[in-house]
Amino acid sequence: MYPWGMDLARMLEKCEREQWSVDDLDWSGTPRAMSAEDERAIVQYFTDMAGIERLAGALFEEQQRRAEDPKLRRIFESFVKDELRHAEAAERLARFYDQRRLERYEMSPSLVRFAPHFIASVRYLSAEIANAYITCGELILDIALLRSINDFVGDAMSERAMDLINRDESRHIAVDFHMISYYGSQEYLDKLTEEPRAPLSQRVRALWSFAHVLYYGAPFFRAVFFKPMQVVDPTGRRMKEAIKRIQLLSKKPSVRRSRFIHVMERVQEYYNESPLVRSLFGRAIERLMGVDPELISKLYTDAERERAARMSYDELAAEALSAKLA
Ligand SMILES: [Fe+2]
Ligand SMILES: [Fe+2]
Repeated sequence: MYPWGMDLARMLEKCEREQWSVDDLDWSGTPRAMSAEDERAIVQYFTDMAGIERLAGALFEEQQRRAEDPKLRRIFESFVKDELRHAEAAERLARFYDQRRLERYEMSPSLVRFAPHFIASVRYLSAEIANAYITCGELILDIALLRSINDFVGDAMSERAMDLINRDESRHIAVDFHMISYYGSQEYLDKLTEEPRAPLSQRVRALWSFAHVLYYGAPFFRAVFFKPMQVVDPTGRRMKEAIKRIQLLSKKPSVRRSRFIHVMERVQEYYNESPLVRSLFGRAIERLMGVDPELISKLYTDAERERAARMSYDELAAEALSAKLA
């Protein structure tokens, strides 16, 4: 048992037991009838999904590299495998739905441009900031987006693949949430104060790559997330749900001690409460947070906030997942 409450041996055992292969799925069927327009959209979504999954894989590789506990390292190693398998599944789904060969599909250029900077900046940034990004990314992209795409496709093949993918994602989210609680723990804060400051050259490189993330992040989110979501989640229900989960997580007392969450939250408060700040810095804030203005507003009630503060990270992770399944 780890000081912050996760039984790593049990989690590792689950990670190994729940491995699967893309070939386990029966790919012999044919897709449901659909319009040419839907076919184009769906094949493009799965093409981009493959890129997102590879990005997630690279981020877990970084976590694996940093993990000091051998069991935790092996858990992340299994997550890297999971994400590569998801990428493979997405590519197979893209081919499966590409019935009419209407065009040559390519990954969205904004995703191709964003990915290397994001991976580099995660390498330079502190582990806690990297983890905050990964957790938000998993909730928004890997869960809200994928589930909405799956609903939109409305076909048994996608359904079967997504069931297995979601089983993997529930392990990822559980560990992501636990890492968040660890980065807010006294143990980690003590460790931080002992750590020597990074050399200037490294801090400059970190800032440089982070500036690129901000710059390329907005077009990436627009092309790969907001635009598809307008089609597959037109009421914004799943997207708001995912953002609400992130907001509630950031209200946990131990998470509140972490520097990154603090900064994000202050930015959010300023934005919501001051029309002056909004008119002067609105665009910069939107870019920094990486989300649409409507989503920066508070999406939870006070009762929900109090309830979340009392819940364990395991319960929060489970609830975030079941909300997405509903
Ligand atoms: Fe994934
Ligand atoms: Fe994941």
